[in-house]
Amino acid sequence: MNKRPIIIDTDPGIDDALAIAIALYSEELDVKLITTVAGNVGIDKTTYNALRLLKFFDKENIPVAVGADKPLIRPYEDASSVHGKSGMEGYEFEDPTVAPITENAVNAMRKVIMESKEAITIVAIGPLTNIALLLKVYPEVKENIKEVVMMGGSASRGNKGVMSEYNVGVDPEAAYILFHSGLDITMVGLDVGMKALVLPEDSEAIKSMNKTGDMAYCLFKKYRGGSFNTGLKMYDSTAIAYLLAPEIYEVVDTYIDVELAGTMTAGCTLVDLRGYLKQPNNAKVCIDIDADKFREWFKESIRKCI
Ligand code: BDR
Ligand code: CA
Repeated sequence: MNKRPIIIDTDPGIDDALAIAIALYSEELDVKLITTVAGNVGIDKTTYNALRLLKFFDKENIPVAVGADKPLIRPYEDASSVHGKSGMEGYEFEDPTVAPITENAVNAMRKVIMESKEAITIVAIGPLTNIALLLKVYPEVKENIKEVVMMGGSASRGNKGVMSEYNVGVDPEAAYILFHSGLDITMVGLDVGMKALVLPEDSEAIKSMNKTGDMAYCLFKKYRGGSFNTGLKMYDSTAIAYLLAPEIYEVVDTYIDVELAGTMTAGCTLVDLRGYLKQPNNAKVCIDIDADKFREWFKESIRKCI
């Protein structure tokens, strides 16, 4: 099968770690590049975590490029209360044996996109700073980007603020640039991520599956995206699930904008399902997910890992 070439832009992050694991062992995806961004923890830690994951998975041949250390305009705010101080608290990873590549994330993305015969899919599972910079500095890349699938935003309420989801809320201007880019965008938001739960019995099943399952179980014990006992929210894996199991979603075409001026609502995604804003559609949005099918898909995907 012809694998779909993807770039993962990420801030690992416990749920990022699982999304990366699934992508790396999917028969349908070819991870060409991992780019890091300041998000759940600072850029040094997200980069170190990406490298540690590739070491763990014996995939250090995949390049890691260092991205933005802060949002475009606003002050940086981390989410270490959810992922722990290191960003991947709970498991003793070995140190990586390779370093990030010398090119920064934006230049590295440009190179991979422009040199690829097949149009590239970008999976964005952190703040959108790198993606916004890429689109502004090298707009020619748009011609060879198949689509952007992003975990972030919300068609209802937020987790960073009342109305803002973390990945969009921490760098709203970057998200604004993406939504106004003209690219084919799919938003897999917080509201569907909140339904993508891994229940305690799933965690127990995963634990003994393989080395990845054991690692995931240890991280899950420390993860504060939901609760181990009532369900852990596997946000970032929902973006990968959109690529690999789209049938579990209900998806609609719509117009999405990002509130930038709001004194209390900056970073809110306005998912204009009823057409109030009278703008042409610029994105697809996942408005529902089959939670049971997600749990099954998630476990089967972990089973494919080492
Ligand atoms: C998003 O924020 C981060 O904490 C998670 O990794 C996910 O990408 C959820 O709002
Ligand atoms: Ca993330």
